[in-house]
Amino acid sequence: MRMYDIIEKKRDGKELTPQEIKYFISEFCNDKIADYQVSALLMAIYLNGMSQAEIAELTLAMAKSGDTVDLSAIDGIKVDKHSTGGVGDKTTLIVAPLVAAAGIPVAKMSGRSLGHSGGTIDKLESISGYRTSLSRTRFIDSVNKIKIAIVGQTSNLVPADKKIYALRDVTATVGSLPLIASSIMSKKIAGGADAIVLDVKTGSGAFMKNVSHAKELAKAMVNIGNNLGRKTAAVVSNMDQPLGYAVGNAIEVKEAIDTLKGKGPKDLEELCLILGAYMLKLAGRNGEIDELKKELRQLINNGEAFEKFRQMVINQEGNIDMIDNPTLFPEPKLKIPVKAEKDGYITRIKTDSVGIASMVLGAGREDKDSAIEPDVGIMLEKKVGDRVKTGDTIAWMYANHDYKVQVAEKIISGSYSIEDKESEQKPLVIDVIS
Ligand code: URA
Repeated sequence: MRMYDIIEKKRDGKELTPQEIKYFISEFCNDKIADYQVSALLMAIYLNGMSQAEIAELTLAMAKSGDTVDLSAIDGIKVDKHSTGGVGDKTTLIVAPLVAAAGIPVAKMSGRSLGHSGGTIDKLESISGYRTSLSRTRFIDSVNKIKIAIVGQTSNLVPADKKIYALRDVTATVGSLPLIASSIMSKKIAGGADAIVLDVKTGSGAFMKNVSHAKELAKAMVNIGNNLGRKTAAVVSNMDQPLGYAVGNAIEVKEAIDTLKGKGPKDLEELCLILGAYMLKLAGRNGEIDELKKELRQLINNGEAFEKFRQMVINQEGNIDMIDNPTLFPEPKLKIPVKAEKDGYITRIKTDSVGIASMVLGAGREDKDSAIEPDVGIMLEKKVGDRVKTGDTIAWMYANHDYKVQVAEKIISGSYSIEDKESEQKPLVIDVIS
């Protein structure tokens, strides 16, 4: 078999065989195929797409490229949750303890931030001492004992994805449906969960800006999951503005704590209840989604969801005093307002730009080796639909360096559209595919 022929076939819009897909993944992982040839194939996939069968085969080949996690020693149906990536998306920090408080085991492996989108592991590391790496035995024992553990992905989980993602990132091929679907689902399949709830983001802060593309991605991933024996559902949700108000790391953990106590932003709480309800449903709970949402709301009201988060932090050796008294989280040196430049209604927030501004301030990483500053980020003051007057604060920049503030301020100002009339907004949940 020759890589040249595989590239040529995909360039001409033909369907690759399972053997060709397996060959390309295994040879690339063994460094037998050059980056430039794989880049060419990725561009051909970007331009010509893949059939459902090809996507499923690619996912499976990628999932098998490294370690696979066996969660069979954990009692019950293990349900995973995954977001396709957004800005201010701290849902895992809320949904995981919420669902665990309802008795469903959550053995979660999460990722780090890249580009404009944040990562759960970076957020958790703003809790001093929190261990994002546990031995396999301790991970399993934790979930059996307290129903929850959130750790980082092991370094050898889907190495094919790491190598392919690095090329996609520099060849303008990130936004390809088959490549996103196989990237996400290979990690979920290798992660060992029995069922998966996907939060597929759409809008200016998402990889899939367009609703119909996001729905297609959701359907493709639900198909892959179900075909590979994992019950899968997808919620397509709005990422036309950041979720909640906090965008960063420590400030997102604080907002998650507020939400677990029933005092969080309404959009964030609502999305967490919906994702959690679908997780319960896939775990086999009886009842309509609305009833399951009510059950989860009750666990927020009676303090059990917050208590579950506390138990997780204690179990993973994080400083519990910070959770009980969030003023102990590190504070940045500077808190600088961004002001509205005119009167009117906020009609649009270019959300990927807010994510980039947060990254510029130090909350995210431009490449995989960049260091994170846990205390910095952006605290929005105004969101879409709010009325402002010239000079009102629309957002606060939390920073440690003046030169970063100057760059971020321009980006944030430019990301807000202020107009005379209110604009119509998409709903928070656009569709559910199950
Ligand atoms: N998240 C992933 O894990 N992979 C992608 O390709 C996009 C978002």
